[in-house]
Amino acid sequence: MSDGYVTDTAYVAEYYPDHAPAHMNLACAFNGFRPRPLDEPFTWCDYGCGNGITANVLAACYPHAQFYGIDFMNAHVRTAETLSLRGGLENTTFMCKSFTQLEEDDLPPLDFAVMHGVLSWVDEATRSALLEDAIKRLKPGGILLTGYNAMPGWAAKLPMRDMIYSLTPDNMNSVERAEAGLKWLTKLKDAEAKYFRDNPALVEAVEQLERLDLRYMAHEYFNENLRAFHFAEVRQALEQGGLKFAGCATLFLNMVDLAVPSALHSIAGWSKNSA
Ligand SMILES: C[S@@+](CC[C@H](N)C(=O)[O-])C[C@H]1O[C@@H](n2cnc3c(N)ncnc32)[C@H](O)[C@@H]1O
Repeated sequence: MSDGYVTDTAYVAEYYPDHAPAHMNLACAFNGFRPRPLDEPFTWCDYGCGNGITANVLAACYPHAQFYGIDFMNAHVRTAETLSLRGGLENTTFMCKSFTQLEEDDLPPLDFAVMHGVLSWVDEATRSALLEDAIKRLKPGGILLTGYNAMPGWAAKLPMRDMIYSLTPDNMNSVERAEAGLKWLTKLKDAEAKYFRDNPALVEAVEQLERLDLRYMAHEYFNENLRAFHFAEVRQALEQGGLKFAGCATLFLNMVDLAVPSALHSIAGWSKNSA
């Protein structure tokens, strides 16, 4: 563990399409915010870049822009740098550093900043340092994407996570803990324990974990400080830094007709006809 985060196993290597500048621009444009121009030089940074798949793919798509990735796990940064080198990219910079150690000249002013799988998974001091750094570097009109465990969706999952966290010995590595925790959850689910009967969404969540790489579960469930936030808490923290909520990266959630049941469309301010 380091800063409360699992560091004994590497994260899975995946591409995250919602981190793409065009996708972030679209989410903002849905709600009337001006997109960042992409046909001129711009800067993009992934705080917690993991193996750098997303950063490298995007760097290849936008050779006239500069892509930065920060991660405190050596193995991640090495993989990211190797990919960049093999791909012949000249517009990436990866840094092996904690968010708490970033210095003024480590990064330029940013057009885009992304932080996926970080806010809910690090300790309070790291979270503050991370947000402070990204907020101060965003250019006016710059776009920040944050991904976190959101309430109330996570309300039923938190006891499940606490159960496997406390039942699996901490002298095991995180992947071993994930494996043992998943076996325990599968047993409870298959036996139709009341907790699962009362929370059918958890049956689906466990079945999904059974299909996924255990390294994902290790990073998702075995960080010491795992927290879930209400949207209002995150919005408040960002507004205190002078940012405005510009939209949801899950695009259909920006469309009221699709995001909420029709019986709720007429609630004040949401009705199509009240515009
Ligand atoms: C869920 S992963 C993000 C994956 C990544 N964005 C991608 O595209 O694959 C979170 C990452 O944050 C990194 N991380 C966690 N705490 C950190 C800290 N204090 N400083 C720097 N990196 C950190 C982890 O090593 C991990 O790679």
